[in-house]
Amino acid sequence: MKVLVLGSGGREHALIWKLAQSPRISALWCAPGNAGTAGESLASNGQLVANVPIGADSIDALVDFARRNSPDLTVVGPDNPLALGVVDRFQAAGFRIWGPTQSAARFESSKAFSQAFMDRHGIPTARSGVFDDPVAAKEFCRQLQGRCAVKADGLALGKGVLLTTSIPEAEEAVDEILVDKSFGSAGDKTVIQELLEGPEISLHAICDGKTALLFPTSQDHKRALDGDLGLNTGGMGTYSPTQYLDPAQLESVGRAILDPWIRGCIEEGIDYRGILYPGVILTQQGPKVLEFNSRFGDPETQVYLTRLENDLLDVLEASVDGTLDRIQLRWSPDPSVCVVMASGGYPGSYAKGRKITGLGEAAQLPSTKIFHAGTALQCDDVVTTGGRVLGVTAWGPTLRDARERAYRAVDTIQFDGAQWRRDIACKGLERS
Ligand code: AMP
Ligand code: GLY
Repeated sequence: MKVLVLGSGGREHALIWKLAQSPRISALWCAPGNAGTAGESLASNGQLVANVPIGADSIDALVDFARRNSPDLTVVGPDNPLALGVVDRFQAAGFRIWGPTQSAARFESSKAFSQAFMDRHGIPTARSGVFDDPVAAKEFCRQLQGRCAVKADGLALGKGVLLTTSIPEAEEAVDEILVDKSFGSAGDKTVIQELLEGPEISLHAICDGKTALLFPTSQDHKRALDGDLGLNTGGMGTYSPTQYLDPAQLESVGRAILDPWIRGCIEEGIDYRGILYPGVILTQQGPKVLEFNSRFGDPETQVYLTRLENDLLDVLEASVDGTLDRIQLRWSPDPSVCVVMASGGYPGSYAKGRKITGLGEAAQLPSTKIFHAGTALQCDDVVTTGGRVLGVTAWGPTLRDARERAYRAVDTIQFDGAQWRRDIACKGLERS
């Protein structure tokens, strides 16, 4: 089979790495990919993965590429092409593609849609309201005593959520979104939630329109600095499994969210095929969904796919074909840890084009995989091109082993200005 993966981050390198192991794949492209994706080769025939210089949002050019090269399956990594309707466009052109349609992807592309859906179908979530009028929005913030998550409705590069703990702060956040339009038209509406307290975990389920198979838990580290300080980022590291829920609790939390969600989708005619990734806070009153994402998490994918024992192609095809009820997901019991190495200054402005060294040495380490994110090849060098540069991932018999291996690999890699958190998976160690 010939497979095309869309995207260029760490998530997409992990998807490519795992798909390349499939004995059924004879050609694999990544559009646009990074230096890491271009370095993978196929288990079936030793061929290298080919990067294709087309952005994941350039849908016309992608459809054109598909017409010329006839991929048997296209796999969508990021949220933006989903929101732009890449799945609908590929299907209309007669191509098989994995991911939710534009309408189904509203679970991520519209927080107002998602929140209303949760409320309609009794999915446990925060107390919330949706507003386009700043006066009404501020009144709701006062009812919540200013302890709010004030969110832009649409996609805002992960930056459209303002957490507040006082009424003036909350009112300012409402103005920022609805009046100053800091997030453009993504902020035509705001979703305001009560501020939830408790540990946050990531859930993932793969869906085929009627069946949703739950993954183990993972935990991201969203703030830039150790101790959950600093600015919100795309994610500075993950580990899986977490120690917050035992398997029976995970099953029960998963069902409390997924059963009403899937019933609601069927009732409303939403044929959701892809990953549903609920962000969940475990509050004293039970688990509550903060938001739904309609794709794999990044860097959650890096720890999930280093634990998944199935052929990923089988799983993705079953999701497209509506046959997930015949699949049993199998996970290595070994925990996996991913430490993100980022460019100095991220998530603010940062330099690009810094040469990365030590990758060859890191590649020799056992039970370790260096996933590339913001990297490119420049002559024979691998250089930085993004905020999140590498997802240094390792696994082992215990969380402590996995973590030590990941940090050992981090120590072998250098680039000017590199920053990373030193406390990835520490919450897991404290609890185990
Ligand atoms: P979101 O884009 O909705 O995931 O929000 C980004 C981050 O803000 C989440 O990962 C949480 O850490 C935090 N957050 C969002 N909503 C809430 C909430 N209602 N209470 C507390 N924290 C929240
Ligand atoms: N891990 C955060 C995200 O993928 O949205």
